[in-house]
Amino acid sequence: MDQQTKKRIAVIPGDGIGQEVIPQALNVIRATGAAVEFTEFDWGADRYLRDGTTLPPDGFAMLARDYDAILAGAFGDPRVKTNIHAKEILLGMRFQMDLYANVRPVRLLDASLCPLKGVEPKDVDFVVIRENTEGVYGDLGGVFKKGTPDEIATQEDINTRKGVERIIRYAFEYCARHTKQDGSPRRSVLMCDKSNAMTHAGGLWQRVFKEVSTEFPQITTQHLYVDALCMQMVRDPRQFDVVVTNNMFGDIITDLAAGLQGGLGMAASVNIHPGRTSMFEPVHGSAPPIAGKDIANPFGAILTAAMMLAHLGMTRESEKIEAAVLEAVRQKKGTQDIGGTLGTREAGEWVAERAGK
Ligand code: NAD
Ligand code: IPM
Ligand code: MN
Repeated sequence: MDQQTKKRIAVIPGDGIGQEVIPQALNVIRATGAAVEFTEFDWGADRYLRDGTTLPPDGFAMLARDYDAILAGAFGDPRVKTNIHAKEILLGMRFQMDLYANVRPVRLLDASLCPLKGVEPKDVDFVVIRENTEGVYGDLGGVFKKGTPDEIATQEDINTRKGVERIIRYAFEYCARHTKQDGSPRRSVLMCDKSNAMTHAGGLWQRVFKEVSTEFPQITTQHLYVDALCMQMVRDPRQFDVVVTNNMFGDIITDLAAGLQGGLGMAASVNIHPGRTSMFEPVHGSAPPIAGKDIANPFGAILTAAMMLAHLGMTRESEKIEAAVLEAVRQKKGTQDIGGTLGTREAGEWVAERAGK
C-alpha cells in the first residue's frame, strides 16, 4: 500500500483500562487489512507523574494537521488527584480543537445484553448528540472565602447562541441523513433540558430548538426534561431516535444509555467538528479498580474503531468489525461483564480473527 493513501491515526491509549482496550482495537483494525498507519502517544497519568507534562504545546495543532483521526482510550488516575492531565488532554482536545458534537450511538446488539425485560435490538437504536464545548465543562467560576464557614463556590453554565444553534442544527442534520439499523429513516429529534429550573439557559435552548426545527419540516420534534427522560429511557427506550442535549446532561444520560446496551464496556463515541480531524473514544473511563487485570471489556473500544473506519470511508472494514463483535456477543465470546468467560486480550483476539476473514 502506498504510504500516501494510508489514513494516519493518532492513538492515545491514556490511563487504566485504556491501555488494555486500545491495543485490542488496533489489532482488530490491523486484522481487517484497513489502509491505516498508527502513531502512538504516551499522553496520560504515567507521563504526567514522570515529568509533569501532559501534552506538548503544539499538541492540538499537530493532531489537527498531521492526522486523519484520533483514537483515544480513557483518562483518569487516582494518583493524579486534580485530574489535571485528563482536563488538559481529553477536554483539551474537545475544547481546543472545537470538537463540538459528541455523537454517542445507543444500540443494543443482542437482547441478552439488555437489563430490561422483553427488549430486543430493534427497540434500542437511538443516538445522543451531546454539546461538547460549553455548559459547566468550561469550569468557569471560583471559590471565595475558601475553608471558612462563609465559603462560596460558583460554577458557571455557559450557553452561547452559536454553540446551542450549531449543536441543535447538527442533530437535525444527523436525523435527516442517517437511517436506523434496519434501514428505516430517522424521524424525530428530542431536546432534553432542565428549562423548568434553569430558565435562562433553558430558554435559549428552547427558542433555538424551535427556530432550527422550522428548517426541517419533515422531522418531528419532542421535548423532555432531563429527569423525565431518565425515567422514560428505562421504561420505554423505543420512543427515542435522535436526542440532543447539553454537555453535562449528555454525559449523564449516555452512561444510563450504556446500561441499555450491556454496560459501559459496550458503548462507542466520536467527537466531531465537521471537516476537521475527529476524536474517537469509548464512552467508559479508565476504571481503576479493574485496570491491569485483563478483565475490561474491549468491545466498546473495538466498536469505536469501527465507527472511525466508517468515518474514514472504510465501510467494508467497519462492517466486518461490527459483524465480528455481534457474533462474539451471540456466542458469548466476551468478557465477564457481558456474560462471557474470556479475558480482554482473548476477547479482542477472537474478534480480530473473525474480522480478518
Ligand atoms: P468508569 O467508566 O471508568 O467505570 C464505571 C464502571 O463501569 C466501573 O464499575 C467499571 O469497572 C465499569 N467499566 C467501565 N468500563 C468498563 C469496561 N470496558 N469493561 C468492564 N467494565 C467497565 O467511570 P468512573 O469509575 O466514574 O471513572 C474512573 C476514572 O475514569 C475517573 O478518573 C474518571 O474521571 C475517568 N473517566 C474518563 C473518561 C474518558 O476518558 N472518556 C470517561 C469516564 C470517566
Ligand atoms: C466522558 C467522561 C468525561 C466527561 C470526564 C472524564 C471529564 O465522563 O467522556 O463521558 O464528563 O465528558
Ligand atoms: Mn462520562
